Amino acid sequence: MEKVALVTGAAGGLGQAVAGKLAASGWKLIVTSRDGERLAQAYGDSHLQIVADCSSVAGTRLILDVAKAHQFQPVALAHCVGNIRLGALHRMSESDFMDCLSANLISAFHTLSAFVGALKDANTPGAAVLVSSAAARIGTPNHEAVAAAKAGVEGLVRGAAATYASTGIRINAVAPGIMDTPAAARILGSAPAREAAARQYPLPGIATPEQLAELMVWLLSESGARVTGQVWSMDSGFSSIRPLVK
Ligand SMILES: NC(=O)c1ccc[n+]([C@@H]2O[C@H](COP(=O)([O-])OP(=O)(O)OC[C@H]3O[C@@H](n4cnc5c(N)ncnc54)[C@H](OP(=O)(O)O)[C@@H]3O)[C@@H](O)[C@H]2O)c1
Repeated sequence: MEKVALVTGAAGGLGQAVAGKLAASGWKLIVTSRDGERLAQAYGDSHLQIVADCSSVAGTRLILDVAKAHQFQPVALAHCVGNIRLGALHRMSESDFMDCLSANLISAFHTLSAFVGALKDANTPGAAVLVSSAAARIGTPNHEAVAAAKAGVEGLVRGAAATYASTGIRINAVAPGIMDTPAAARILGSAPAREAAARQYPLPGIATPEQLAELMVWLLSESGARVTGQVWSMDSGFSSIRPLVK
């Protein structure tokens, strides 16, 4: 089966890093965004570019239909759509909460559903990697909305991995801490804010999207062939260790 990967949120920071590494490893790519201009800025005329909104069933069907019409059968999915909506629970507006659920959980549900549906139709194994967050693993102030959405993503990953394991479809997630991408621009917007964010992590510093992309590409590759139903943290120790405070 030809190595074709679908990268959603491909105009974003992580999406571009994953797409770059997949292309360098010989994958043929389908890249998606809601904004065709941003896709063209990022990729020129490379790859099959599809403008669609992954947070609706119609959007995800469109992606798989256009791919099929171009004879692209994706066997790997890197779902890089999502946002970070911060704010204390009692202050979060209904619209911000719904946007957070839509970008993070509902998009993951519909995109994974369309992807595994296409694999089942083609009777083909494949692999998907979704993106959770350290905030789903450990309580972090003002992260209630994104924590709830990403915890849903983790449940989706385990359930779907169980459903499709017997057909050779692997489904995993990664759970990063803060990364230097547009989604984190507000949190990292000034030098003092950046230093304060970096100090929250046992391994000091701010991660790059390329570091997470490396793990995601590995999970999609043959090297990850025995891994499914897992959520892999890459959060500089944030959710699992508490070093001595000096
Ligand atoms: N950066 C961090 O610190 C961090 C930390 C933990 C988890 N994450 C997760 O990492 C993933 C990648 O994000 P990123 O850091 O690369 O951010 P990013 O550069 O903002 O990319 C995310 C992409 O998601 C799409 N998107 C955002 N809101 C959407 C909505 N309401 N409906 C549909 N699509 C929407 C946008 O694509 P278009 O506008 O092009 O359609 C955007 O380019 C996300 O799941 C994010 O939650 C990031």
